[in-house]
Amino acid sequence: MRFAFFAGNALIARFLMIPAELYSTRDQLLPRSSKEERLKQRAKVFWLYGLSGSGKTTMAAAFERRLHEEGLFGVVLDGDNVRSGLNKDLGFSDEDRSENIRRIAEAAKLFVSNGIVTIVSFITPRDRFRRMAREIVGEEDFLEIYVKASYETCQTRDVKGLYAKASAGEIRDFTGHQSAFKPPENPWLVLDTELSGPEDTLELLWSKAESLLRPVS
Ligand code: ADX
Repeated sequence: MRFAFFAGNALIARFLMIPAELYSTRDQLLPRSSKEERLKQRAKVFWLYGLSGSGKTTMAAAFERRLHEEGLFGVVLDGDNVRSGLNKDLGFSDEDRSENIRRIAEAAKLFVSNGIVTIVSFITPRDRFRRMAREIVGEEDFLEIYVKASYETCQTRDVKGLYAKASAGEIRDFTGHQSAFKPPENPWLVLDTELSGPEDTLELLWSKAESLLRPVS
């Protein structure tokens, strides 16, 4: 019986490309539902993506603050922060961006499975990266939010001075310049930061998110 259990686990591990010597300890840990109950919330991953300068970080920070004011608990995972720590070994080639997104999706999954509302803010420039993130996090928990602003608008804003550097040829593989950004076809929500300011945009996001996060009574 015990042998059959381990043999079954080994087969599943092989299929998922997880080393067969690893055995999940998840069943010994407190379940997500206990943590969600303690935090009086339901957890989700809000995956904000769009060009550099589109307003992702501004919206992620405002959303986190709003959650706090409403008595909910959230964390923000943001491209610039994560790339200066956990992912500082990665650059901006397609391969590195893919690994960047994979790690963040795995991190987001850890947070959400511990009952925490997780706000992710990464350019995530291609469909396949977004699909991978969705697959890792899980369909149930993954909410895709396109923070929309054109290259020209972001270039005019140029908050970090990166667009000027990209035009001068000082940054390799800059998104939207030498490295493509593919707009999505069917995101859960579009936040068009050319049409609305931060306050209205936050209201729209909150109005869509709140009912998903409150506990079902
Ligand atoms: S992603 O494509 O892999 O999702 P990510 O969101 O982590 O990108 O990082 C984007 C941030 O890195 C930008 O906000 C910008 O500050 C910085 N950055 C540095 N080099 C580049 C580049 N070549 N293209 C885009 N962003 C860059």
